[in-house]
Amino acid sequence: MNKQPTDDYFETLSLGNKKLRENDLNGAMLCFHSILKTNKNHIKLYLNNFDLFCRNKINKENFNFSKKICEFYFEDNFVFHQLGFKKALNLTEFSASKKKSNSQVINLKIINDKLLHLILKKCLLVDLNLESYLKKIRKQFLKKFLSEKDTNFFSKIYFFLIALAEQCFLNEYIYFESNEESKLLLNLEQKIKKRKNICEISTLLLSLYKPLNKVNYLETKLNNYVSDSKNFNDFLKFVFKDPKKDKKIGETLKSISNFSNKISKLMKSQYEENPYPRWRFNLRPIQEQDLNVYIKSITKIDLIKNYFDNPEILIAGSGTGHQILGWSAFKNAQICAVDLSKDSLAYSIRKTKELNIKNVNHFHIDILDLKLLRKKFNLIICTGCLHHMENPEDGLDALIKVLKPEGVMQLALYSKYARSEIEWTRKYIEKKKISVTTNQMKLFRNMMITSKNKKFLPIKKSPDFYSLSNFRDLIFNYTEHTFSLNQITKLLEKKKLKFLNFNSIDSNILNNFKTLYPSANDENRIDLWSNYELMYPKTFFGMYNFWVKKS
Ligand SMILES: C[S@@+](CC[C@H](N)C(=O)[O-])C[C@H]1O[C@@H](n2cnc3c(N)ncnc32)[C@H](O)[C@@H]1O
Repeated sequence: MNKQPTDDYFETLSLGNKKLRENDLNGAMLCFHSILKTNKNHIKLYLNNFDLFCRNKINKENFNFSKKICEFYFEDNFVFHQLGFKKALNLTEFSASKKKSNSQVINLKIINDKLLHLILKKCLLVDLNLESYLKKIRKQFLKKFLSEKDTNFFSKIYFFLIALAEQCFLNEYIYFESNEESKLLLNLEQKIKKRKNICEISTLLLSLYKPLNKVNYLETKLNNYVSDSKNFNDFLKFVFKDPKKDKKIGETLKSISNFSNKISKLMKSQYEENPYPRWRFNLRPIQEQDLNVYIKSITKIDLIKNYFDNPEILIAGSGTGHQILGWSAFKNAQICAVDLSKDSLAYSIRKTKELNIKNVNHFHIDILDLKLLRKKFNLIICTGCLHHMENPEDGLDALIKVLKPEGVMQLALYSKYARSEIEWTRKYIEKKKISVTTNQMKLFRNMMITSKNKKFLPIKKSPDFYSLSNFRDLIFNYTEHTFSLNQITKLLEKKKLKFLNFNSIDSNILNNFKTLYPSANDENRIDLWSNYELMYPKTFFGMYNFWVKKS
């Protein structure tokens, strides 16, 4: 049962809000944290305080307090930890030792930092220094294990090994391995094969390099294995049992389409080999919000009264399902999640079940065949998908046909200006005939890391550089179209769609835009953003993410 708020609660809350108005982020966080410590059910406050943590600057004075807040959130699984990754990393022993420039390769203080373990388990590591450090110690562990009898050392780093193995699974073994390591790995595998029972340390070392669910000779042993350690059992669930479950779910999925379009077929194979995006935990949304209020607040349009009281929502190209969490939490929402990748859908089905989300149905269908669902929708979300179709216009037509007359739609498409370096890199890959195999992609990525070529810089900054599926999606995609805002304007006119506005533009970009275009409605004018983009071509590096309705 929820506790009734006390007078203390209201006092602390209003003090926190006062500090926030005074721009005293530390003071505000301190107040809000003192409430949340005893009651995490204030979901809005819980999420807002995480947002403050992500925005706040860390300095000597607030270091310890920031670390406490950081651990508070990273121990839970209710936020999208990736948003706090950079801040969290700054609070680790790894960053502290870098500043003192005394980071020995194997340093137990760095390795046994609880916060580092949490980061490894919950974020993709978007940091090449940390990646380089982890690659070095991974190799050292392997050497040490194979050359010494003393396993005492490994019991000291047991929890770190679990966390690193989970990270390697999360990033799909994207770290390049040297020939020397490949040989050492063969030795390790021979040792493992000879053993009758599971040795946890050698299993963990192996899983720094390979997905355990694909190591056939361990399958029966791992199926029957239960550790004394909850951490190890959780690790096994994540890297071994869950992927097997997903495979079974995928096998039972019925296909509505026959995927006869040749590009759909190619995309199906790509996203079945590499489901996108990789995610493990995501934010706990506020339940039962009114979608009428929400859509009005973001699109600023006058809606028909109560139009979204019982919203039918289509997520087209839903991938691994992270978008379902937020949309399914709206009052009376019914979600239809469609994709052409069975593996992505299977992941999404398992995750939504685990999270007890009941108002979602998944369909294995090509967007081109949406009419076969015999359903119309109040709201359609289609982000990062149409530009991977043979002809995005055909995809858009299929969406328009299933959008109700007063419905609204969120689209996200690639910007040709923002992606100029990516386009250059894709051509480079084509010219060099680099094939889309795991080895070739890892090799190429390794070359990019050491290369001084400036074209690679924005790519290395993208979070998608840090896991194999995301990396493939970023620069090895079979098909992608890019657009300019002029082209989008023409396309929308042709399809009789009205542009409403962009979805959540970064506040720094928006402030800069407003200094150039200060009138009230300017920020919703696509023509002005088109001018702005010519001045700042990386504005839409993520994508053009915008709202439309039928005109
Ligand atoms: C880059 S992912 C985007 C996933 C998700 N919408 C997001 O924003 O994170 C593109 C997704 O679209 C799916 N997709 C591509 N073409 C499709 C088509 N013709 N029909 C259905 N899904 C498609 C892919 O399988 C993949 O899951």
